[in-house]
Amino acid sequence: SERTLVLVKPDGVRRAIVGEVISRIERKGLKLVALELKNLPRETAESHYAEHSGKPFFGELVDFITGGPLVALVVEGPRAIEAFRALAGATDPVKAAPGTIRGDFALEIGENIVHGSDSPESAEREIKLFFPEVA
Ligand code: GTP
Ligand code: MG
Repeated sequence: SERTLVLVKPDGVRRAIVGEVISRIERKGLKLVALELKNLPRETAESHYAEHSGKPFFGELVDFITGGPLVALVVEGPRAIEAFRALAGATDPVKAAPGTIRGDFALEIGENIVHGSDSPESAEREIKLFFPEVA
């Protein structure tokens, strides 16, 4: 089995759909391994999104993810990385299929409710960053 880092981003917390997201994860059969509500230090946000640091939307992305509390989770199960990204749907919520988290709850690419690690290497790095005690 595999682990992935999931975030319910500040827009998801603000809109009070944390329970909805967790419920979908649990219904799918994935297991919760760690969970925390926290305000992300700017430094952690920049490190989390380091792969996007040269892009024009980077500043906006860091402002957004540090703009309010988020919920970080470590989720485990068979092919958990791919399984959660399937639950999340496409990055652009307008293109995300109805039935997915982004497809059901979002409209703007900059406010797409959830994050899920995109590879085993990213998952390992991100879990260490958010939950040094779990990794
Ligand atoms: P994450 O799970 O959040 O990493 O999303 P992703 O893996 O589906 O997308 P990616 O890693 O490519 O982009 C990270 C985040 O940057 C996305 O979730 C978006 O919120 C944001 N983002 C990506 N492209 C754009 C863009 O063109 N404009 C803005 N404002 N935000 C973007
Ligand atoms: Mg990504």
